[in-house]
Parts: sequence; C-alpha cells; structure tokens
Amino acid sequence: MLAAGVVFSLLAVAQLAATQLPPPQEAPRQALSDLITANHILHHRSIIDSFGHVSIRHPNDSSVYIMAASAGNTVSRAADLYYYRVNDSEPLPFPNGTMPGSVSARSERFIHGEIMRRYSETNAVVHSHALPMLTYATGLISLVPVYHMAAFMGLNVPLWDITPLYNSTERQDMLVNNARFGSALAAAFSNSTSTSDNPSTLPTYPLVLQRYHGFSTAATSLSNVVYQSIYATDNAVVETAQLEARRAVGGEALGSIEALSLNEVQTSTGLGADDYAFRAWEGFAWEVQHLSDYVNELR
Ligand SMILES: *[C@@H]1O[C@H](CO)[C@@H](O)[C@H](O)[C@H]1NC(C)=O
Ligand SMILES: *[C@@H]1O[C@H](CO)[C@@H](O)[C@H](O)[C@H]1NC(C)=O
Ligand SMILES: *[C@@H]1O[C@H](CO)[C@@H](O)[C@H](O)[C@H]1NC(C)=O
Ligand SMILES: *[C@@H]1O[C@H](CO)[C@@H](O)[C@H](O)[C@H]1NC(C)=O
Ligand SMILES: *[C@@H]1O[C@H](CO)[C@@H](O)[C@H](O)[C@H]1NC(C)=O
Repeated sequence: MLAAGVVFSLLAVAQLAATQLPPPQEAPRQALSDLITANHILHHRSIIDSFGHVSIRHPNDSSVYIMAASAGNTVSRAADLYYYRVNDSEPLPFPNGTMPGSVSARSERFIHGEIMRRYSETNAVVHSHALPMLTYATGLISLVPVYHMAAFMGLNVPLWDITPLYNSTERQDMLVNNARFGSALAAAFSNSTSTSDNPSTLPTYPLVLQRYHGFSTAATSLSNVVYQSIYATDNAVVETAQLEARRAVGGEALGSIEALSLNEVQTSTGLGADDYAFRAWEGFAWEVQHLSDYVNELR
C-alpha cells in the first residue's frame, strides 16, 4: 500500500509533466559555443547589453530556437542558453528535461520566434538598441548605406511602428512582447502584403528599424546576422558624421544624404554574403576570445 505522501508526490510529478513541454534534442556543442561568442562580440561592440539579444535556430530541429536569457557579457555556459518553440515562442526545458529556473524567459522572444516562423530560411536574428541607430529610428532621416560594408541593407530600410497596434487598455511600453506584435514586425521584413498562408522563405529586407526603440535583423546564419548588426550600426555612425560634416560646411542646402547608388548597392551586396561574413566573424571572435572579461565554457 502507498503512503499518502508518496501518492501526493506522484500526483505532483504527473502535474508537472502535463504542463511541461517535451525537451528538445541536444544542440551541437559548436553551435552553442558560437552563440555564446556572438553574445560576447555584440556586447563588446555595444550592440547588446542587458537588453537586446541574439538567437539561432536549432541546427537539428527547425521548430526550435535558442537564445540567452541574460546580458551578453554574462553568457558563458550551456545553462545560460534557453530553448523556445518557434511556432509560439513557448519556453522549453533544457535537452536533459530540467526547466531553466534562475533567469526568466526573454519577454521580447516573440521577435525571434515570429521572424523564424514566417521565414523558414532565417536561422539567426538580432534585436538591438544600439545608440547610433536610434537617430534613424525616429524616422526624421532615412538610414541609407553610406559605405559598401552596409550595402546589404538596401536603399529602403523599413521603419516599423508598434504604436498603431495598441488598443486602449494595453501597456504601451514599446516592447514586442506577444505573438501579435512579433508577427506584425516579422511582416515588415517583407514587401509582400500576403499573410502567413503564403510566406516567402527569406525576408525582402534583412533589417528593420523599430520606431523609438531600435532595430531587428535576420539572416541565414549567425555570422551573417552578427555582420549585419555591426556594419549597420557603423553605417549609422558614418551617416551621422556625414550629416554633421555637411552642416559644418554650410551644406544644409546641398540636398539629400550622399549614399551608394542602386548599382553600387547591388554590386556591393556580396560583401554581406557568407564568405565575407565568416571572415569578419573570425576577426570579431578572436578579439573577444582574447579579452578576459568574456568566458566561453564551451570553447
Ligand atoms: C545536428 O546538426 C549538425 C550541424 O548541421 C550536424 O553536424 C549533426 O550531425 C546533427 N546531429 C544530429 C543528431 O542530427
Ligand atoms: C540539465 O542541463 C542544464 C543546462 O545545461 C544544466 O544546468 C543542469 O545542471 C542539467 N541538469 C541535470 C540534472 O543534469
Ligand atoms: C505549436 O506546436 C505545438 C506542437 O505541434 C502545438 O501543440 C501548438 O498548438 C502549436 N501552437 C501554435 C500557436 O501553433
Ligand atoms: C487589448 O489588449 C489586451 C492585451 O493584449 C488584450 O487582452 C485585450 O483583449 C485587447 N482588447 C481589445 C478590445 O482588443
Ligand atoms: C519584392 O522583393 C522581391 C525581391 O526580394 C522582388 O523580386 C519583388 O518584385 C518585390 N515585389 C514587390 C511587390 O515590390
């Protein structure tokens, strides 16, 4: 005969198992290690801090994505990387079945989940509040590629606004913290008005500014998305410097910003392609691996 205590604890275990989703399979160590390194690179470059995040799609299970729950510089081990379900951004247990406990799931994970849900070839996403980009998140001046390294952005960088989506009772904190906001942001990456029943596998625009908030960018690989985040932010610095220089020479009457031409954009876009992005990644990774502030236990 079972003692009452044992019956209660069996019931408790059964209840837990009923609410907890099945664990994902173990992701390759190299993929997790690279995700830790990406957190360090983007933190070192002031693209992410305690806010802002970078995610990868699980290399062995396209229905799952992986993202750190804490600040970029503090990410150092497998336990810092949480797993989420792509179709609704529900948090999953670790591959060994235990639930992560110490740090809660990212409220803006829906950015990552909804972009990956809509674009099946997107394997990595960054969301950032990098300061140089915020000037262009006001909509006052367009963000345009002013040097070849940022040609991948194209000449029409969308500016997405969450404000029209709010209803009168909703908290208006600018956060993309539910699937409705996430899916509207994901749609801004496409020039197609068709809804999710006819999705394209890749976004039309690799980067979207978020009004009064920051930007998000999506790519087929982690090295590409890191490249895009860094060179778009550098481009914003250069574009702002150009505007200041023009003002200094009394150039307000000179007209619009000097940007790459459409032909130059199309010809230079290869610079955001895999080989270049990987070369850039090797340099960025080397840099953080030689800084003692950044620890990667999976290297
Ligand atoms: C997981 O994906 C990696 C990278 O694509 C691959 O090398 C590995 O064989 C896969 N593992 C399993 C169990 O499918
Ligand atoms: C399960 O995995 C997590 C993440 O790697 C780890 O922190 C935890 O200690 C593991 N738990 C057990 C019981 O092995
Ligand atoms: C996500 O997928 C799971 C498992 O297939 C399913 O039970 C759940 O209803 C799905 N959620 C959405 C929002 O599609
Ligand atoms: C307003 O938004 C809240 C939170 O998302 C939601 O629960 C509520 O149903 C919405 N109300 C209307 C009228 O759409
Ligand atoms: C949308 O962008 C694609 C390239 O990504 C292009 O082929 C297509 O013509 C564009 N459609 C519209 C309606 O602009």
